[in-house]
Amino acid sequence: MSRIVSDSFINWFRATSPYVHAHRGKTFVLAFSGQAVADENFSTLIHDIALLHGLGIRLVLVHGSRPQIEERLRLRDAEMAYINGLRVTDETALTCVKEAAGSVRVEIEALFSTAASNSPMAGAQIRVTSGNFVTARPIGVREGTDYLYTGEVRRIETRAICNQLESGNLVVIPPLGYSPTGEVFNLSAADVAAAVAASINADKLILLTEGKSLKRSGKTLSHLTPAQVDMTLARRASLSAELRLLLIKAATACRKGVKRVHLVSRSIEGALLRELFTRDGAGTLVSPEPFDLIRQARIDDVGGILALIEPLEEKGMLVRRSRELLETEINHFTLIERDGTVIACAAIFPYEKDAMAEVACVAVHPDYQGKGFGDTLLQRLEQMAVQQGIETLFVLTTVSSHWFQERGFRKGEVQSLPMARRSLYNYRRNSRVLVKQLD
Ligand SMILES: CC(C)(COP(=O)(O)OP(=O)(O)OC[C@H]1O[C@@H](n2cnc3c(N)ncnc32)[C@H](O)[C@@H]1OP(=O)(O)O)[C@@H](O)C(=O)NCCC(=O)NCCS
Repeated sequence: MSRIVSDSFINWFRATSPYVHAHRGKTFVLAFSGQAVADENFSTLIHDIALLHGLGIRLVLVHGSRPQIEERLRLRDAEMAYINGLRVTDETALTCVKEAAGSVRVEIEALFSTAASNSPMAGAQIRVTSGNFVTARPIGVREGTDYLYTGEVRRIETRAICNQLESGNLVVIPPLGYSPTGEVFNLSAADVAAAVAASINADKLILLTEGKSLKRSGKTLSHLTPAQVDMTLARRASLSAELRLLLIKAATACRKGVKRVHLVSRSIEGALLRELFTRDGAGTLVSPEPFDLIRQARIDDVGGILALIEPLEEKGMLVRRSRELLETEINHFTLIERDGTVIACAAIFPYEKDAMAEVACVAVHPDYQGKGFGDTLLQRLEQMAVQQGIETLFVLTTVSSHWFQERGFRKGEVQSLPMARRSLYNYRRNSRVLVKQLD
């Protein structure tokens, strides 16, 4: 059989299918900076966007144009004034804003019109539309400074944008808006994108960032709630100005009803596709609900739990459980699911007469260890135990005694176990007995 198309490609392609189905017909607002437009690889980003469009995703693009404005200002021996971190857009700057917005739009339209037969755009046939979708007002005079033509979003023409999307068009919106007095105002692209996403009830707002992604202990932070964004901003003074600003915008957008805001670094090759078509993404998702679902296990989770624990059983870290045993014990299990896959589980077996319960089979998939999933599960089991009137938890472990000790368990004896459990203790396995009193 021909191996021109490799098995890994086929496997990879199949693995994307849940995301292809999930995203089809959904509406995403994607914001990117003027730097992205100026980048020599901008056409690659356009190709990826065209692919999303081809997969049936309804797209609104909001672009920045800062370098394009600055370049025009330089040619006029002028520069943008900033006061208290805000731009002051005077007449000259406004002329440059208009020119830059026009030129960027034409450039984007040209790229979407490419149709060379040997290019990724072959057959794409994408219609791009733009217009007066954003009504703006001046931010006005603040602390004595008149910010002139720097404005803020007043209203979005929701129906007009949705009509375009329904006609299959891709909508491009520049970072400027028009006032009922006929004036033009210079707006922040991120603000426009957030306002558009909220008004058209977009499924996702994606903000492409210029710098590195948001990391903790060297790993990209994959999910934050708006409250965690506030904490991160308060704790981490070292965050870049760009990340700080975009995190604030993301949390605000979430609080205004946008369900999912993604911060994705443009520096990662194919970041947009990775974020949308792989389980772990490439960027940081800010969303009001926890991304991973923690819940009681059901009978149809047996396969997923077995897939998680069997490798750990083979290493002797967990006691072997047959499928039949797991099926009878399934109601004792709690699990964490990410995009339909069980990534962590734990079980609790009460000994009601003794007001004790055994914590067992705590397992976190190796790819997800060290991210607090073990902690989350243990806390959930402790809450459940308290609700059931359990006073003491115990665990039998061969290799993770320190992990439990760091979470309030103390060394115990086989004699500390409930009588019914003592008789089942496996002396050959020689597990450590650890005990925790619940408050
Ligand atoms: C033990 C286990 C459940 C922890 O889950 P986790 O989600 O990785 O844990 P958390 O993210 O909540 O905590 C991570 C911390 O625990 C530490 N840790 C992980 N495994 C440990 C172990 N066996 N002993 C001591 N500390 C351990 C990590 O080093 C990390 O600490 P650090 O941040 O200071 O470096 C997981 O490693 C696992 O599945 N192990 C194999 C199965 C097992 O032994 N289960 C227990 C028997 S019931």
